[in-house]
Amino acid sequence: MGCGDMTGKLVLVTGAAGYIGALVVQQLLDRGYRVRAHDKMYYGDQGLRAVRDRVEVVQGDLRRFDPVALDGVFAVIHQAGLSNDPTANFNPRANYSINTVATQVLAEACRQRGIERFTFASSASLYDAGLGGEDILKDENTPINPLMPYSLSNFEAERILFHMRDEHFKPTSLRHATVYGFSPRMRFDLVVNTFIKDALTKGEITVHNGGEMWRPLIDAADVARAHIACIEAPVERVDGEVFNLVYRNYRILELAHFVIDRLKARGHAAAIKVEYSGHPQRSYRISGEKITDRIGFTPQVSVQQAIDEILDAILDENGKLTTNILHPRHYNIEWMTLLHEAEMLVKATGSIY
Ligand SMILES: NC(=O)c1ccc[n+]([C@@H]2O[C@H](COP(=O)([O-])OP(=O)(O)OC[C@H]3O[C@@H](n4cnc5c(N)ncnc54)[C@H](O)[C@@H]3O)[C@@H](O)[C@H]2O)c1
Repeated sequence: MGCGDMTGKLVLVTGAAGYIGALVVQQLLDRGYRVRAHDKMYYGDQGLRAVRDRVEVVQGDLRRFDPVALDGVFAVIHQAGLSNDPTANFNPRANYSINTVATQVLAEACRQRGIERFTFASSASLYDAGLGGEDILKDENTPINPLMPYSLSNFEAERILFHMRDEHFKPTSLRHATVYGFSPRMRFDLVVNTFIKDALTKGEITVHNGGEMWRPLIDAADVARAHIACIEAPVERVDGEVFNLVYRNYRILELAHFVIDRLKARGHAAAIKVEYSGHPQRSYRISGEKITDRIGFTPQVSVQQAIDEILDAILDENGKLTTNILHPRHYNIEWMTLLHEAEMLVKATGSIY
């Protein structure tokens, strides 16, 4: 069954202050939902500042989730977690307890309360076979065997969610391709966004391994739209389903050229440095046809359009940066490392003032 009029329904968004979560919150509000925004705020609350007076904010750690946050909730859009390989590798135990165990606890609380709509932010990196691996277009039925802590934690969380599925709990997992595009909580540690940062701050983009690696890509606002499309779709079309989310698959070198071209259109010159050596890097291609076939969802925002939107947001009319894009908050592993060091220091020396 479809859900009819969604106006006024309450949605819990976890990771709501994050790169994708902030856009989910914005879009839900635009569509007339009420929003409860849950986040530990690892990266601050910048992502929610523009909407703070329109949402209920619950600041907390998902590992100590209070189910009261589910009161009155119609659906949960679960974005919280350590969100890349470096942060997962930095502390694999914390990664597992956040990405897998806390997901299970949240889902169990939903099931007990009969909150059947639940979307999970998984990752297409589950499919990665690396450069030199089998180069085929992978869909949701392709066998996978993730090995890295980040991919493994997402894969385990998916398996647990689908195992829990019953008449009261109908989860959907969305495997995001690598994300690009502007968000009020900006990340510059994702390939397209990083290339923009490098072109603007160094005048040069370096690509490794000849830029041959394949990457599936998608815009952050399209990811947010996909999650909302799933909570609005007839439940029998999304119940227990995995959907890949991808706009297109590109070689890394193509992405560098897109950035250079869009900058050139604004009078900015930058070069591409191609290196033919490099450490092993992700390389894989995925199909996103299933979600289009099932619920009619199609990503809309091209890489070039997203690059323009980012440039509009961070450059003034003279082409000068208006924001510090090198701040460590925009680079998850840098920020986590700093937080960890600061925590150790404060523990040893006591409060700063
Ligand atoms: N951005 C991508 O390219 C990408 C690709 C594939 C999958 N994903 C997945 O999408 C989701 C969102 O990614 P993002 O890019 O917005 O990441 P992000 O790091 O910007 O946001 C994650 C948010 O989760 C919050 N969080 C982390 N641990 C928490 C905890 N223990 N308790 C409460 N809040 C916690 C953080 O404070 C942060 O605001 C993640 O689950 C990520 O794994 C992202």
